[in-house]
Amino acid sequence: MQTEIKTETIRTLRNGVRLNFLRSAEIPPPEKFLSASELEKCSGFKIEKRKSDWLGGRYAAKTLLREILELPLSLCKIEITYDLFGRPVWRGGSGPHLISITHSGPFCAAAAKTEPCVFLGIDLEKAEPRVKPWYEDYFHKEELHLQVTSNRYPATIHPVTDYRSPATIHLATRLWTEKEALLKALGLGLKADPLDIKIGKEIQFSNAALKRYEELGRPEYLLETSRLETGYYLSAVAD
Ligand SMILES: CC(C)(COP(=O)(O)OP(=O)(O)OC[C@H]1O[C@@H](n2cnc3c(N)ncnc32)[C@H](O)[C@@H]1OP(=O)(O)O)[C@@H](O)C(=O)NCCC(=O)NCCS
Repeated sequence: MQTEIKTETIRTLRNGVRLNFLRSAEIPPPEKFLSASELEKCSGFKIEKRKSDWLGGRYAAKTLLREILELPLSLCKIEITYDLFGRPVWRGGSGPHLISITHSGPFCAAAAKTEPCVFLGIDLEKAEPRVKPWYEDYFHKEELHLQVTSNRYPATIHPVTDYRSPATIHLATRLWTEKEALLKALGLGLKADPLDIKIGKEIQFSNAALKRYEELGRPEYLLETSRLETGYYLSAVAD
């Protein structure tokens, strides 16, 4: 029984999502927390970064589930698999318990809710310059508008013209994490076109994103995004 452990890296977001945010390098050796089949999968990773990301996600998810669901289980017995849409789940309870995982740079994070949910996604990205085609491929023109404030005039909204300006980079990174979190909640990832989501005052789904949203029963959800001190953006969405 190890349920009394309180993990300092776990916090609760405003939308009720429980988040475990870690550095991938700061996790125990795989034998301490992977099941036999997970160890076998781990031995198949050829790229070291992919392996450490995968391990970080597993460790973050397992420690999170054990704490928030008060599981009287060793981490090796909490096995993370995927649902039919490719979303990570834990199947040890009464039904599959949805999880979401992200890794970026040295960080990894896992999210879950205490109660079962059908719509959950998180994404972490560093704010950094991107080439113009990236902006054109992933965003609607209406999404790329900046608010310009001045002491003398009321705030105005302008379309983005300089793709390298810090304001544009921050806006786009924020939007990108929001789209990816939503695409993970939909179980689509980049199998769907990011343009199937349009973020403005409201969020609009179209094409594959809308079809899946309807298949999931059009759940009501809350999307929360934060800018972290490390220069990263983190978005989390859940019903
Ligand atoms: C989901 C996706 C957009 C994430 O890409 P990313 O931003 O580079 O990576 P992140 O670190 O933020 O997220 C990776 C996690 O997303 C999760 N994920 C993968 N596919 C997912 C899906 N369809 N739905 C929800 N979550 C998914 C996984 O848990 C993965 O971590 P894991 O491999 O350690 O379990 C991308 O993996 C994708 O498009 N997947 C679906 C398409 C696919 O199957 N591609 C084959 C790749 S070889």
